[in-house]
Amino acid sequence: MYLQYWQFKEYPFENVPDPRFFYLSKSHEEALTRLLYAIRMRKGGAVVSGDIGCGKTTLAKVCLEELSPDQFDIGLIVNPNLEAEEFLQEVLYQLGVNETADSKVKCLRLIHEKMIRNVDDKKETLLIIDEAHLLIPAALEELRLLLNCQMNDRFLITIVLLGQPELRDKIHSLEQLDQRLPIKYHLSPFDLNDSVKYIHFRQKKAGREDNAFSQKAMERIYENAKGVPRKINNLCDLALLIGCSKNEKEITPEVIEGVINDGALL
Ligand SMILES: Nc1ncnc2c1ncn2[C@@H]1O[C@H](COP(=O)(O)OP(=O)(O)OP(=O)(O)O)[C@@H](O)[C@H]1O
Ligand SMILES: [Mg+2]
Repeated sequence: MYLQYWQFKEYPFENVPDPRFFYLSKSHEEALTRLLYAIRMRKGGAVVSGDIGCGKTTLAKVCLEELSPDQFDIGLIVNPNLEAEEFLQEVLYQLGVNETADSKVKCLRLIHEKMIRNVDDKKETLLIIDEAHLLIPAALEELRLLLNCQMNDRFLITIVLLGQPELRDKIHSLEQLDQRLPIKYHLSPFDLNDSVKYIHFRQKKAGREDNAFSQKAMERIYENAKGVPRKINNLCDLALLIGCSKNEKEITPEVIEGVINDGALL
């Protein structure tokens, strides 16, 4: 709709977790470093919490891109709101085991066999669970038991949990699990400086060198979105649309006010 008008090659503020558009804010960089440390150093597990829309899923995708499939056997679970047995079946499926298991015991045995096979193949087993705040207590208990599978000198699996802030409290209340997930990080929204850099970064990635947003407009966006990337994207996208329809040369704070006041984001 506005690509040509603003001279973009593609839409700059799409809300998709596309690693190409990943911006390394202070907080995202810290989270990524810790995640990769936990995975590469076989620390057992890691937990990343963060408010809605702050970039947890995007971070998981970027993290996956850093890991070679030759070295890692990775299972990614995005909807973990399952009963314990179904959950273990999903773990099996995501780790690429096609054999069906009709009981918990069978599931656990197959998962264990897969982990041992990976050791023989010189591969790490990694399980990433997004939306992990939805895990029920019985499924969390299964994760604890999976983390109990160790050889003399190493964990057989690394488990990464990403979820909304209540995930931290859930895990904290289960001390045995808590201790087995030593790396924890809370992903913050962008600060003003990162919000400004992010808005410019996304435009450049989409093919436009000049910043179409004035400094004051970006400050207004930051205040309204409170630095949450998904909200920043929504505001910027609508501002570009409205700016185009009004033939603006630049996105000013007035355009941003217009977007906020017309209620499109409520
Ligand atoms: N560091 C980042 N760099 C670039 N884009 C980002 C970044 N963080 C978030 N985004 C953008 O914001 C959108 C929302 O991020 P994401 O879906 O990763 O958040 P989330 O924390 O998983 O949200 P939810 O709690 O709803 O699952 C993404 O689609 C992506 O476009
Ligand atoms: Mg998400």
